[in-house]
Amino acid sequence: MSANSRKILVTNALPYANGPIHIGHMLGYIQADIWVRFQKLRGHECHYVCADDAHGTPIMLKAQQLGIAPEQMIADMQQAHQADFADFQVAFDNYHSTHSDENRACAELIYKRLRSAGHIKTTTIEQLYDPERNMFLPDRFVKGDCPKCGATDQYGDNCDVCGATYSPIELNNPRSAVSGATPELRESEHYFFDLPAFEQMLKAWTRSGSLQDEMANKLNEWFEAGLQQWDISRDAPYFGFEIPDAPGKYFYVWLDAPIGYMGSFKNYCERTGAADFDSFWQPDSQAELYHFIGKDIIYFHSLFWPAMLNGANFRQPTNVWAHGFITVNGTKMSKSKGTFIMARTYLNHLDPDYLRYYFAAKLSSRIDDLDLNLTDFAQRVNADLVGKVVNIASRCASFISKKFDGKLAAELNDTSLLHEFQAAGDGITQAFEQREFGRAMRDIMALADKANAYIADKEPWQAIKDPARAAEVHEVCSIGINLFRILMVYLTPVVPQLSARVQEFLQDQFVWDSYKTLLRDHPVSPFKALLQRVEMTQVDAMIEDSKASTTASTDATAAALGSDNSELIADPISAEIVYDDFAKIDLRVVRIANAEHVEGAEKLLKLTLDLGGETRQVFAGIKSAYQPEQLIGQLTVMVANLAPRKMRFGVSEGMVLAAGPGGSELYILNPQDGAKPGMRVK
Ligand code: 2FM
Ligand code: ZN
Repeated sequence: MSANSRKILVTNALPYANGPIHIGHMLGYIQADIWVRFQKLRGHECHYVCADDAHGTPIMLKAQQLGIAPEQMIADMQQAHQADFADFQVAFDNYHSTHSDENRACAELIYKRLRSAGHIKTTTIEQLYDPERNMFLPDRFVKGDCPKCGATDQYGDNCDVCGATYSPIELNNPRSAVSGATPELRESEHYFFDLPAFEQMLKAWTRSGSLQDEMANKLNEWFEAGLQQWDISRDAPYFGFEIPDAPGKYFYVWLDAPIGYMGSFKNYCERTGAADFDSFWQPDSQAELYHFIGKDIIYFHSLFWPAMLNGANFRQPTNVWAHGFITVNGTKMSKSKGTFIMARTYLNHLDPDYLRYYFAAKLSSRIDDLDLNLTDFAQRVNADLVGKVVNIASRCASFISKKFDGKLAAELNDTSLLHEFQAAGDGITQAFEQREFGRAMRDIMALADKANAYIADKEPWQAIKDPARAAEVHEVCSIGINLFRILMVYLTPVVPQLSARVQEFLQDQFVWDSYKTLLRDHPVSPFKALLQRVEMTQVDAMIEDSKASTTASTDATAAALGSDNSELIADPISAEIVYDDFAKIDLRVVRIANAEHVEGAEKLLKLTLDLGGETRQVFAGIKSAYQPEQLIGQLTVMVANLAPRKMRFGVSEGMVLAAGPGGSELYILNPQDGAKPGMRVK
């Protein structure tokens, strides 16, 4: 590390441990990973940590529904999350869990320091209680009629119909979303963190000058509305850490979640010795600390978290950087449209560098939402990465290998374009530093256009026909390869896998400053295709798989709980339907006459179903659980009057019923012997 090397700790928002990562999540992880790779490439000491956010009521309930211990559920989920991040090249230095010894130690330490400084108070509050499940109900786990407009089936905190906000106690006909029981009002003592005591400190932090404008504005609104005491305790049963000296009381998930940044870093320091924990967290730390988050969790990160740190005598974050949400094809990600794309489904079809580049090209330092238009995605990646950047190498490399022994020219005289590419480095460096990745990508692609124009102008493929012009061709192609190399240095944080292949081809190892040097008289490896074009057929297959994976999810409870643990969106009971709705569903016993794999489909099997005289073709998302031959001859139950649905592989004429959490644990329903194909299920 050089003398002016910075010490930087970067974190990403911790994903909840009750659902898979989807491409909406990936925006923030890719954004932070690009920034971290950039800092590391420059030689700064930069550490990048994350963890699963493993506590809270929804996680507890989901594990109960799955019939497994929460520890087991969060361990399985953590493994899946880490695999998704690794395969997207999001290279955390440490990935831990908030349900860890280190995090418990940090949470207890912070709590005890806050308590001794007089920042914790207790108050008895009234809350709705589920007498069947013996638990207090978070607001979103109570449903009933809106007290303002009377709309039925509304959540305990606000009404979807008239937009009113209220307390769950105000709902008419309230019922527990966990058991359906009528909740009772009960008293309980809660622990509160005295946020208002930190108003001056938070205002000073806000005025420090470097916060995003949108964030500073939001903070000012909250200051004007007045800061409130923050309820940091939850009663048992709760999956979390018990509060010291308060039996039966647990830290609310949002108390120990940001502390999870510290917990993960502590685990990393102790496990690897790569950094000194205290020097990053002590109040006068000279290290920089950045949190990348989504815009929905600004409140927690810009008010509670800096205040907690300050009150417990730790340093404040240098900055908190929020990003917007993504839409796909202009609208919210949708399960029925197949645009609710899981990270794993994307990875099964497409190269992660494509999405990393597309996000980079559209990201700025602002909190704007970003649209992933899938047609534009394919076109942009093909036009820019394949058509502009890689094209430079493919136009020059074959001459170098075939005509010049695989060696670049020793002398490069025509250096003006090379110097222009190098001179652009300052601006591109600044754009990366400021998280203006879109600007960096535009600058890089403008240079790529110039490189292509240079080669088109020199026409080495014509010149090579004249043996007297060999030296000229050698120089032009060597300049072309050097131009390509400079662009690929700039693109390294964004497309690490492509860059690794390029470094192998160039027999080089990039650091950020590599753009300042040129390769002369330097061997290169035989040229292999560096990047395939995105084909729309791959994109379509990904969409079909996304549709299939959501239609295959027959565990309504698990699906409704989703991956959100915030106690804000969970809906653990399925919507009630009236008898007439039920009577419309034509359920029939069927015999599986044939079952086969579907080429190109990740999750689907093609079933031919015998309804006793009539056959139907159904695509069922049960491949993860069954081999086709296991199914042939079995009886099962289908929805026989579902409108036919055109899928990429053909028309699906109904749906078979299955149950289970998914993966290998998915079971088609088997009627008893005696049932015959065609019989109605009553
Ligand atoms: O909103 C979320 O997905 C939370 N799990 C983020 C937590 S970030 C940090 F505070 F832990
Ligand atoms: Zn209402």
